Amino acid sequence: MKETYILAIESSCDETSMSIIKDGHIEISTVVLSQMDIHKKYGGVVPEIASRNHVQNITMVLEECLEQAKMKIEDIDAIAVTYGPGLVGSLLVGIQCAKTLAFLYNKPLIPVHHIAGHIYANRLVGDFKFPLLALVVSGGHTDLIIMEKDYSFKYIGGTLDDAIGEAYDKVARVLDLPYPGGPRIDKLSKEGNHTYTLPTPKDDNTYDFSFSGIKSAVINLVHNEKQRGKKINKADLACSFQDTVVNIICKKTMKAIDKYQIKQLIVAGGVAANSGLRISLEKLCSKAKVELLIPPIKYCTDNAAMIGCAAYYAMQNGKISNLELNAKAVEKLN
Ligand code: KG4
Ligand code: ZN
Repeated sequence: MKETYILAIESSCDETSMSIIKDGHIEISTVVLSQMDIHKKYGGVVPEIASRNHVQNITMVLEECLEQAKMKIEDIDAIAVTYGPGLVGSLLVGIQCAKTLAFLYNKPLIPVHHIAGHIYANRLVGDFKFPLLALVVSGGHTDLIIMEKDYSFKYIGGTLDDAIGEAYDKVARVLDLPYPGGPRIDKLSKEGNHTYTLPTPKDDNTYDFSFSGIKSAVINLVHNEKQRGKKINKADLACSFQDTVVNIICKKTMKAIDKYQIKQLIVAGGVAANSGLRISLEKLCSKAKVELLIPPIKYCTDNAAMIGCAAYYAMQNGKISNLELNAKAVEKLN
């Protein structure tokens, strides 16, 4: 059978990334240009600055990606791009580039949902075994999704307010840790103990999550202690927060594994890099006798390799766009 090479573009937030993926799971080349250092000083991503930097970098990233692969655009079978959800100005830069390439070189244009990309990052490490449960934990999402076949997504629950990554970043900010706070809290939590009592977030019968309560509890606790002139033990508070959120994520994941007779759990999104979550999910899956797939850390955060994998299956499911494709800031996965 003829091999399929997809050139994928991801620019939904502050990473300008391109990748060439063969047959939906073999990485030929990937370039990720992060703007993290630029946004750090503002304590978060500034949308206007992000899109300007995408414009500046995208041609360079394309040239580098083709050069690494020793390929020309003529060798590529299709152009894929993240069309949402994300920052509209950032998305539009990637979309415009993808449309231009698709038009000039007469290639199919494949629109990829950002979360489908995070899920398909797991194809870089193994095969999918259906029915599977995808746990998506990122800066913008905390979702539980059932997949019975490729590129078919059934949402069973998710956060009703803050995403888990967002909660991590806000807790980190009140502890004066630099952006992005998730990895800092993770590191700090290993040096502390679970000594602070925090409210258990939405411990009920649904598959939904709520992290704004625990986030506010941490913020209030820090402010109150400061007012009393007391010192916070940052490592202990990081450990207490991480323990509490990891426990509830694992509890609801386990409930879904039981209910839907899952064969495989796949984890996706930036927070999949969290060491506490990885350890707890390994234990949970070994107990439940369910296979666990978690991408290596470099594929957990935003990258175009995951978009190239998802695009292969999107294309097989007829998801090909015309040149009217537009950016979607908010978009359901279906
Ligand atoms: O998936 P991602 O790169 O961007 C979105 O699509 O949202 O995820 C970024 C999020 C940030 O909130 C960051 O703090 C969090 O992932 N993150 C972590 C860790 N590494 C990244 N959170 C907790 N522990 C980590 N080790
Ligand atoms: Zn992401």
